[in-house]
Amino acid sequence: MPLKNTRAAFPDGFLFGTATAAYQVEGSSFGGCGPSHWDTFAATPGNVVGGENGAIACGSYNRVNDDLDLLQAGNFDAYRFSLSWSRILPEGRGAPNAEGLDYYDRLVDGALERGLKPLATLYHWDLPAALSDLGGWRNRDVADWFADYSEVVLDRVGDRLWGVGTINEPWCVSWLSHFLGLHAPGTRDIRAAARAMHFVLLAHGRAMERMRARGQQNLGIVLNHEDIYPADDSPEAKAAATREDATYNRWFLEGVFRGTYPQEALAGLGPHMPDGWQDDMALISQKLDWIGTNYYTRNLIGPRDGLWPATAHVDGPLPKTEMGWEIFPEGLTNVLKRVHSYAGGIPQFVTENGMAAPDAVANGAVQDDDRIAYIDAHFGAALAAIEAGVPLKGYFTWSLMDNFEWALGYDKRFGIVRVDFDSLERTPKASYQALKAALARN
Ligand code: FCB
Repeated sequence: MPLKNTRAAFPDGFLFGTATAAYQVEGSSFGGCGPSHWDTFAATPGNVVGGENGAIACGSYNRVNDDLDLLQAGNFDAYRFSLSWSRILPEGRGAPNAEGLDYYDRLVDGALERGLKPLATLYHWDLPAALSDLGGWRNRDVADWFADYSEVVLDRVGDRLWGVGTINEPWCVSWLSHFLGLHAPGTRDIRAAARAMHFVLLAHGRAMERMRARGQQNLGIVLNHEDIYPADDSPEAKAAATREDATYNRWFLEGVFRGTYPQEALAGLGPHMPDGWQDDMALISQKLDWIGTNYYTRNLIGPRDGLWPATAHVDGPLPKTEMGWEIFPEGLTNVLKRVHSYAGGIPQFVTENGMAAPDAVANGAVQDDDRIAYIDAHFGAALAAIEAGVPLKGYFTWSLMDNFEWALGYDKRFGIVRVDFDSLERTPKASYQALKAALARN
C-alpha cells in the first residue's frame, strides 16, 4: 500500500526523519550507564506492565550502526535521538562515563557518514537516580544540574549536531510523572507537580542560556500537545476542557513563548509554586530557533466531581489505535496552527507522530496498512498546516523501531521496523517500505 503524500508534495528541503529515545532503545544495562529513575520505577511492582524495563530494550547500544543503516536505506534525512543523562553522568554530576560519551560520538559520526542530520534531545525522561534522591524535578537545583550536563554533552558532540532540543515533553516530565504518578518517579502530589512544572521549564531556560553562551546553533524544545475539546455542549464540560487545556497545552506554550502561565492553571497550582517563580519567566521565555511538536491524538474532556482540576477524559467515537487514542489527523493541523500563533515565524517540526498497532507477523513480514494510512493522513494534515502558513520544516515518525513503551512495556509497538525482543532482530514493516518509496529522492 503506497502513500498518497510523498516527498514531492512537500516544500524543497523539508526534512523527514524518525525519532527514538535513549531509555527506550539503548539498553540501560550496557556500557557503564548509571541507574535512572526509570530503572527504579520499573523495578517497583505495579508500575510497568509485565514488570518489564529498559535494561536490554532494543540493544541499540551494541547495534547503532544497523539502526543508522535502516534510516539511510529508508531514504530519511534526519535522526532524532536522545542522550541518556545517566549513561553520560552515572551519578548525575561529577565524573563522566567515557564509554557513554564514546557511544554518542559514534552515533553522531555514524549519522553524518550516512548523510543523516543528527537532532539530539538532551532529556527524554531518564533522570539519574542519584538526582532523584535529591528531589529530582522538584528541586530547583535541577536547572543547574541539567545545564552542567548539557555542557558535558556539547563538549563532546556539540560541534557535529545539526540541532539540539532541551527537554522532551515537559508535561510528561512534570504532570504525568508528579501529579498523575503514571511515569517515573510515580509521585502523586500537587506541590511536587507545581514545582516540576516550573523547574522543568527553568532547566530548559538555564540550558538554553549556557548553550547560547558557547555558540551552539539551532536550539529548541519539544512540547507535546493534544487537540482538546469539551465532551458535550454543557458549560461544565467547556470549563473542564479549558482547565485541561491550561495545564496540558497552554502552560508550556505561554511559559516558553510569553513568559506567563495561564490563570486557569494557577488557580490550582498557584499556592504550591516555588517562591519568586515570576522572576524566572524571562529566562524561560528566551528566544528559540525552532519548536518541536509531538502530536498523537485529540482528547474529549468532561467535568469530574472532586478536587481541582476536576476533569475527566471521555471516550470518543473515532477509530482508535492500540493505545486507545482516537485517530484525528485534523488535530495535527490545528495544533501546528496554534503553535504558530505563539511561536511566530520560527521553524516548526513535527518531532513525533505515529501509532501503536498489534502488527501480526505473517511469513516474517508485517503488513501494517493501518500504520501506513495513519502516517499518510498525518502527512496530509502537515501539508494542510503548511498551506495555512505554518513554517513547518520537517516531520519525524515515532518510531524507527518497536521499543520500551514506558509504563506499557514492550506490548505496544510503534515501530516502522519490527523488533523481536528475544533475538533483537530487526525486520522492516510494510510502513517502512512505503515510507522508503514515498521519500525516494528523484
Ligand atoms: C511520547 C513519548 C515517546 C513515546 C510516544 C508514544 O509521549 O515522547 O517516548 O513513548 O509518546
